[in-house]
Amino acid sequence: MLHSLFLLLGALSLLTLVIGQDQSGFISIDCGLPENFSYTEKNTGINYISDANFIDSGVSKTLSPEDRITHQQQFSYLRSFPNGVRNCYKINMTSGVDYLIRASFLYGNYDGLNKLPQFELHVGPNVWETVKFTNSSISVNYEIIYSSSQDHIHLCLANTGTGTPFISVIELRTLPNDTYSISIQSVGSLARVLRLDLGSITNLTYRYKDDPYDRLWEPYSNKEWTQLSTSLNTDDLNNTVSMPPVIVMSTAATPRNSSASLDFKWDANTITDRIYFYLHFNEIQKLKANETRSFNITLNGKPIDGPFVPKYRSTQTSYTPSPHSGFKTYRLSFLRTEFSTLPPIINALRNSKR
Ligand SMILES: *[C@@H]1O[C@H](CO)[C@@H](O)[C@H](O)[C@H]1NC(C)=O
Ligand SMILES: *[C@@H]1O[C@H](CO)[C@@H](O)[C@H](O)[C@H]1NC(C)=O
Ligand SMILES: *[C@@H]1O[C@H](CO)[C@@H](O)[C@H](O)[C@H]1NC(C)=O
Ligand SMILES: *[C@@H]1O[C@H](CO)[C@@H](O)[C@H](O)[C@H]1NC(C)=O
Ligand SMILES: *[C@@H]1O[C@H](CO)[C@@H](O)[C@H](O)[C@H]1NC(C)=O
Ligand SMILES: *[C@@H]1O[C@H](CO)[C@@H](O)[C@H](O)[C@H]1NC(C)=O
Ligand SMILES: *[C@@H]1O[C@H](CO)[C@@H](O)[C@H](O)[C@H]1NC(C)=O
Ligand SMILES: *[C@@H]1O[C@H](CO)[C@@H](O)[C@H](O)[C@H]1NC(C)=O
Ligand SMILES: *[C@@H]1O[C@H](CO)[C@@H](O)[C@H](O)[C@H]1NC(C)=O
Repeated sequence: MLHSLFLLLGALSLLTLVIGQDQSGFISIDCGLPENFSYTEKNTGINYISDANFIDSGVSKTLSPEDRITHQQQFSYLRSFPNGVRNCYKINMTSGVDYLIRASFLYGNYDGLNKLPQFELHVGPNVWETVKFTNSSISVNYEIIYSSSQDHIHLCLANTGTGTPFISVIELRTLPNDTYSISIQSVGSLARVLRLDLGSITNLTYRYKDDPYDRLWEPYSNKEWTQLSTSLNTDDLNNTVSMPPVIVMSTAATPRNSSASLDFKWDANTITDRIYFYLHFNEIQKLKANETRSFNITLNGKPIDGPFVPKYRSTQTSYTPSPHSGFKTYRLSFLRTEFSTLPPIINALRNSKR
C-alpha cells in the first residue's frame, strides 16, 4: 500500500509556527544548578532554570574545568544520586498533550573517578533507556514523545549496580498532535531512534530556533553519498510545523554513482522493537523538461512506496502507518526507476520505536 502525506501550508500552521518561536511550550531544566538560578544559554537562546523545585534528593556537582569550557552551559552542573536505588523528578505537564521529553547526560569526570557509569532512566514505572557512555567528554541524550493521562510525570534515575546515576539536563517541549501518524495518547509513548539531516553540508546539529519545537536534527552522510543544496525559505517549502525545518530540507543526499541505489541502514536494539519511520523529501533542483526523478523505496528488499516523485520546493513525507518489527537490521533502499533520468534523493529521516 502507498502512503504518502502531502503537506500543504495553511494559515493555521503558519500561525502556529510563529507562536512556536517563543519558548511557551518549553520547560528547560539545568540539573544541579543552584536553587532560584536561571540563565539564557548563549548559542541556543534557550532559558534554563534550576531543578531544585522538581526533586528533593541527589547532590549538585560540576564538570571538570576542561569539559566545562567545551560544552554548552547547561552541562556545567549535574545532579548525582549516590543514595537510593531510584530517585525521581516530578514535573508538571498538561494531560493529553504530546510532549517531547529529552534527557541529556555528560559525565565529564565530575566525580574524579574517571569511570563511565551505566544506569537506567525510567518514566514512571517503565524503563525508558539504559544510559550508556562511550566517552567521558561526549554527551548522550534520549528522547521520548509522551502523552500523560495525569498532570505530572515522574522521571527517575535507577541504580543498577554499575555506577552512580546522574543527569545533566531535562527538556520538555509540547508538540502539535499531528507530528506522528499515530495518536501518542493511544500508544503512551514513542522513543526516538534517529532524527537525521541526511544532506547536511555543514555537519551541524540543528535545533531551536531553526526548529521551533527544539527537535535535534543530526547530520549524517557516508562515502557513497554526495549532497545537493539550495537556499529555501519557509514559504517555498509549504512546510507545516511537524515537518523538518527549512535548513534541514534545503539539502538532500543522493548517491555518488548516479545509477546505484541510495541505501541507508540502522540496527534495532532488539528484533521486537516496533519501528515507525518517516522519510522526508523535497525536490530542491529545478528539473529541465526532459528530466525526471522517480524512485521506488524498499525496506529489507520489500517495496514500501513508489514510484515516488519528489515535488519541487514542497515537502512530502513517506511513511507506513503500522510499525515494522522482526529485524535486527533495517535497510532502506531508494531505487531509481527505469524511466528516471536522475538518481534518488532524500532530505531527512526520523524513526521511533515503541
Ligand atoms: C528561592 O526563592 C524563594 C522565593 O523567593 C525563597 O523563599 C528561597 O529562600 C530562595 N532560595 C534560595 C536558596 O535562595
Ligand atoms: C505543580 O503543580 C502543583 C499543583 O498544581 C503545584 O502545587 C506545584 O507548585 C507545581 N510545581 C511546579 C514545580 O511548578
Ligand atoms: C573522547 O572525545 C574527545 C573529544 O571528542 C576526544 O578528544 C578523545 O580522544 C576521546 N577519548 C577517547 C578515549 O576516545
Ligand atoms: C489532535 O487535536 C485535535 C484538537 O484537539 C483533535 O481534534 C484531534 O483528534 C487530535 N488528533 C490526534 C491524532 O490525537
Ligand atoms: C562531522 O562531525 C563528526 C562528529 O564531530 C565527525 O566525526 C565527522 O568526521 C564530521 N564529518 C565531516 C564531513 O566533517
Ligand atoms: C505552496 O503554497 C503556495 C502558497 O500557499 C501555493 O501557491 C503553491 O501552489 C504551493 N506549492 C505546492 C507545490 O503545493
Ligand atoms: C554504479 O552502479 C551501478 C549499478 O549498481 C554499477 O553497475 C556500477 O558498476 C557502478 N559504478 C561504479 C563506478 O561504481
Ligand atoms: C536534456 O536537454 C538538454 C538540453 O536542453 C540536453 O543538454 C540534455 O542532454 C538532455 N538530457 C537528457 C537526459 O536527455
Ligand atoms: C518500481 O515499482 C514499480 C511499480 O511497483 C515497478 O513497476 C518497477 O519495476 C519498479 N522499479 C524498480 C527499479 O524497482
